Amino acid sequence: MSTVLVIGASRGLGLALATQYAAAGWRVIGTARSPEGLSRLQAVGAEALSLDVSDPASVSGLSWRLDGEKLDLALYVAGVMDKGDAQTPPTREAFDAVMHANVLGAMQVIPQVAPMLQEGHGTLACISSRMGSLALTQSSDAALYRISKAALNMVVRTTQAGYPDIAVVALHPGWVQTDMGGRAAPLTPRESVAAMRATLASLKPEHHGQFLSHDGSPLAW
Ligand SMILES: NC(=O)c1ccc[n+]([C@@H]2O[C@H](COP(=O)([O-])OP(=O)(O)OC[C@H]3O[C@@H](n4cnc5c(N)ncnc54)[C@H](OP(=O)(O)O)[C@@H]3O)[C@@H](O)[C@H]2O)c1
Repeated sequence: MSTVLVIGASRGLGLALATQYAAAGWRVIGTARSPEGLSRLQAVGAEALSLDVSDPASVSGLSWRLDGEKLDLALYVAGVMDKGDAQTPPTREAFDAVMHANVLGAMQVIPQVAPMLQEGHGTLACISSRMGSLALTQSSDAALYRISKAALNMVVRTTQAGYPDIAVVALHPGWVQTDMGGRAAPLTPRESVAAMRATLASLKPEHHGQFLSHDGSPLAW
C-alpha cells in the first residue's frame, strides 16, 4: 500500500487530497492544527497528526513523530493568503503570518520529510500558485502572497538540487472553490485534486524540479 503525507489537510484542497487518496486505497497521514481539522481527517480514513507549520516547536517534533515511516508522496499544502497590494506596506504581523506558513514552514518541514521519500524514490509536491510566477505576474494584487509563493518555488528548486533521488515539483492547483479561492472560482476541489493526482501519477524525470499546473501543463517560473 502506498503512503501519502498531506501537510495542512484540515479543509480545502488538503482535505480533498486526503479524501481522494484514502478513497483510492492509499494510507493517508494528514496534518491539521485544530481538533475540528483532526476529526475531519479521521472521518475520511486518514491518520491525523497535530501540526502548526508556523510554530517551530510544533514542526521540530515532526520527524520524531513520523519515525521509521517510508513515504511514497508528501504534499505541502498549508498556506495563507494576504490580499494587500504593492501600494500597501504589509504589517510585520501580516508578513510573518504569510511567510511563516507559506515559506518557513516548508523549509522546516521538508528536511524532515524528504529523507523518508528517498528509499522509494518518492515525490514531494509543494502547492504553489500561478500567482507566484515572476514571469506571469502583471498585477500587484496580493503582493505578499505572490512573493511568498515565489519564495516557495525556490524552495522547490533548492530541494530538488539537495535531494536528487526524489521528484520535487511546484504544483498550481488552478483557481479552486475553497475558503481561499472563493465561490467564483471555476474549479471544485474534487476537480482540482483529481487533476493534480493524475499529474503526480504521471511525472517523468523531465518534470523533476519543475513548476506545473494541476493538469500537468508547464508554468513559467
Ligand atoms: N484555492 C485556490 O484557488 C488556490 C490557488 C492557488 C494556490 N492555492 C494554494 O493551495 C493551498 C491550499 O489552499 P486552499 O485553497 O485549500 O485554502 P484554504 O481552504 O484556506 O485552506 C488552507 C489550509 O492551510 C492550512 N494552514 C494555514 N496555516 C497553517 C499553519 N500555520 N499550520 C498548519 N496548517 C495551516 C489551513 O489549516 P487551518 O484550518 O488550521 O487554518 C487549511 O488546511 C495553499 O497553499 C494555497 O496557497 C490555492
